[in-house]
Amino acid sequence: MEQIPRYTSYPTAPHFHKGVDGKTSQNLLGKLGKQDVLSLYFHIPFCRQLCWFCGCHTKIVNGNKPIEQYMELLSQEIAMQSKLSGASIVKYMHFGGGSPTVIEPNDFVKFMNVVRSNFDVLDDAEIAVEIDPRTVSKEKILAYAKSGVNRASLGVQDFNEQVQRAINRHQSIELVKNVVVSLRDTGINEINFDLIYGLPFQSLETIKKTIDSAVKLDPNRISLFGYAHVPWMKKHQDLIPTEALPGPELRMEMFDFAHDYLTKSGYVSIGLDHFVKPDDSLAIAQKNQEIQRNFQGYTIDKADALLGFGVSSISTLPTAYLQNSSDYRHYVTSIEEGNLPVARGIELSDDDIKRRDIIMSIMCGIRTKVCSNEFASELKSLSPFIENGTVEYRDSFLIMNKREHHQFRKVAAKFDAYLTEGQFSFSQAV
Ligand SMILES: C[S@@+](CC[C@H](N)C(=O)[O-])C[C@H]1O[C@@H](n2cnc3c(N)ncnc32)[C@H](O)[C@@H]1O
Ligand code: SF4
Repeated sequence: MEQIPRYTSYPTAPHFHKGVDGKTSQNLLGKLGKQDVLSLYFHIPFCRQLCWFCGCHTKIVNGNKPIEQYMELLSQEIAMQSKLSGASIVKYMHFGGGSPTVIEPNDFVKFMNVVRSNFDVLDDAEIAVEIDPRTVSKEKILAYAKSGVNRASLGVQDFNEQVQRAINRHQSIELVKNVVVSLRDTGINEINFDLIYGLPFQSLETIKKTIDSAVKLDPNRISLFGYAHVPWMKKHQDLIPTEALPGPELRMEMFDFAHDYLTKSGYVSIGLDHFVKPDDSLAIAQKNQEIQRNFQGYTIDKADALLGFGVSSISTLPTAYLQNSSDYRHYVTSIEEGNLPVARGIELSDDDIKRRDIIMSIMCGIRTKVCSNEFASELKSLSPFIENGTVEYRDSFLIMNKREHHQFRKVAAKFDAYLTEGQFSFSQAV
């Protein structure tokens, strides 16, 4: 099977380089304008137990000391970046990881106060937290509500016991249900579930049951990710029994089945892998051709810049990507020495920016203007996709056929100037 990037950024992360460092970042942050609206991303790189499928940047910790110390460093980084940034208005915040649910309630409230004292967080800001249902508690949920959190994304993955054993992640439907009830009780009503297809021992039958149980809990959104098996990058994935992994055809069948089941259950399909209730802001944004794509997936986030904080986090500026060091020690030393912990990144040329706009629109399945002179060879290479109905090119606009979402990555790749045919080294395209 062809292997193609997921395009959460363009140029993609393998093209980031060390030439972009703290100094470059300082200048770029300073160029942000006073009226620019920000989105903030906080990376919490800790979990209590390792899921063997995990592709995220995280490590297992016991006790609270390392987490408290990290939140202290993160607070210092916030002070540093807010001082350098020309912009301060915040409309979106996202806590990801890892598992932000490892943070103790008091530490979470304290941290949010630090954010609010360094940035101008709008009253109607969208504030989301990724939740591991196994490490959250009523006290933590109360702390989220008190701090203005209004969105929760729960890692559900799969409810089948055999699958759960094979991925080292045990969590019952009952546990997830209790978390959903607690969230709704405190007024956190915007709830997303992450599910994964392509895990060991999954079959059409198990996927049907998992989705059925998930739908009964009535989340507003469901993200259905294809399992990315990359043991050369994530050693612990060697613990996954590869002989039990569904092959490419079954993966495709599972996704198609889930897609039909979810759309029949009243969800609207968004981009490659999101499903939302028809009144959800993403569904409305899709109707208005306004959805966006960033490192967290599909979003309505129309911020001018996304500032990342914490180990390995990535910032998206109007003309650059900046990535913090993924090396914990390096991150700590940089902050302690009062330096931005940026380790690599890329400054975008005008051509990169044009291609980024086109590629992101394709990945979002929305129409996009493509100049026929400037991109003549790319448009020519789209002929097979035009013939098979994946995409239309009319009046200078590329119009994606939403039903052919399997093909979006391949269409986007035609506009990727960094991609050399035959040099793909990414996870499977479906
Ligand atoms: C940071 S985790 C979510 C919060 C929390 N850590 C949890 O797992 O409950 C982000 C999501 O990435 C997805 N994910 C992690 N590793 C993956 C992989 N190898 N392939 C596909 N999806 C993956 C999972 O669905 C997971 O819920
Ligand atoms: S999937 Fe979530 S809980 Fe599991 S190890 Fe990865 S980040 Fe931690």
